[in-house]
Amino acid sequence: MFQLDSHPSGRHFLQIPGPTNVPDRVLRAMDHPTIDHRGPEFAQLTLEILEGLKPIFQTAGPVIIFAASGTGAWEAALVNTLSPGDRVLMFETGHFATLWRAMAEKLGLAVDFVPGDWRSGVDPVIVEAKLAEDRAHSYKAVLVVHNETSTGVTSRIPDIRQAIDRTGHPALFMVDTISSLASLDYRHADWGVDVTVAGSQKGLMLPPGISFNAVSDKALAASKHAKLPRAYWRWDETIAMNRQGYFPSTPATNLLYGLHEAIAMLRDEGLPAVFARHQRHAEATRRAVRAWGLEVLCRNPAEYSGSLTAVMLPEGHDADAFRREVLARFDMSLGTGLGRLAGRVFRIGHLGYFNDLMLCGTLCGVEMGLALREVPHQRNGVGEALAFLQEGGTQTTTTAQRRAA
Ligand SMILES: Cc1ncc(COP(=O)(O)O)c(C=O)c1O
Repeated sequence: MFQLDSHPSGRHFLQIPGPTNVPDRVLRAMDHPTIDHRGPEFAQLTLEILEGLKPIFQTAGPVIIFAASGTGAWEAALVNTLSPGDRVLMFETGHFATLWRAMAEKLGLAVDFVPGDWRSGVDPVIVEAKLAEDRAHSYKAVLVVHNETSTGVTSRIPDIRQAIDRTGHPALFMVDTISSLASLDYRHADWGVDVTVAGSQKGLMLPPGISFNAVSDKALAASKHAKLPRAYWRWDETIAMNRQGYFPSTPATNLLYGLHEAIAMLRDEGLPAVFARHQRHAEATRRAVRAWGLEVLCRNPAEYSGSLTAVMLPEGHDADAFRREVLARFDMSLGTGLGRLAGRVFRIGHLGYFNDLMLCGTLCGVEMGLALREVPHQRNGVGEALAFLQEGGTQTTTTAQRRAA
């Protein structure tokens, strides 16, 4: 029989790259009676949340909240702005880009899917070339996953925006920030994004269940003429009712309590500190991986993800067997290899509610798991990460480099 709290003594380490660890502050905020979502208290809650989300998305425009996982927000982005048969440009950066493409095709869009190696981000040079040759402006949108959660590769959104601008192409720019928002620097307005897609269960430190579209004026204008069928996902009805603090249908009230608290936590820490913390943990993790003698999946250091690190296991070693061992022995869940990476990589999530010692525990679990599974490695990954963290993440050299100097 399913038992909710069947873990052994101590905290379970949830180190998948989302859903992430939910802070006690957020859990306590959700643990309140559900209120009337048409009453005055609820309106105040909504209005405060909608204001509080703006600095997180870095926009002054509307942010629409759906009771849905991130997949729902993907769909909302497409059906509000596009029409059947519209051509869109997408990039095979990994599993989630591939899923978003499949959705676009199911909705009747004509996807031009630029192939990729699942180790690299979107190449701005290709974006520019594709748009430059599209003189008829047949592409209606460019769709990019900012942080590919399956690979730990972060595409360079400002560079892609500049590439679009150099061609003067009018396509909408839509960005999936499901595993980057509130973890990695992201600027909806400054970076000229038309629709930002986000979810609750990663950087926002909430359970899964709500997701978001931040929308530009250009996207709102497109939504007036878009012909894809849409009902639940309509932006206009939600935006109209949100002005008074309400929603067209029953919202996820208790998740919104949690969101209100999560926004306060992010405000308390300050977004620059949140971003710096994620970069520090990512760098400490990569130092550990290299010291173990293993390879980070992401090829280009300019595209390293601050939210998660995907680690390749040597040929002949099954990453899922390794993950099972770590879970059984140390009560820690690591991310599985998705799609074509199944069995070849495991992913360390270091995003959301997380600190130096949680990372140390995580890396200890990985290092012990490597030894137990007899994966060839050096035993000094944790030590390398500790040396980096103890200095506050400011060291530019590794222990080996310092010894050699
Ligand atoms: C980058 C990215 N996009 C989309 C999704 C799909 O979101 P969901 O599983 O919440 O529907 C995920 C889920 O992990 C994701 O990481």
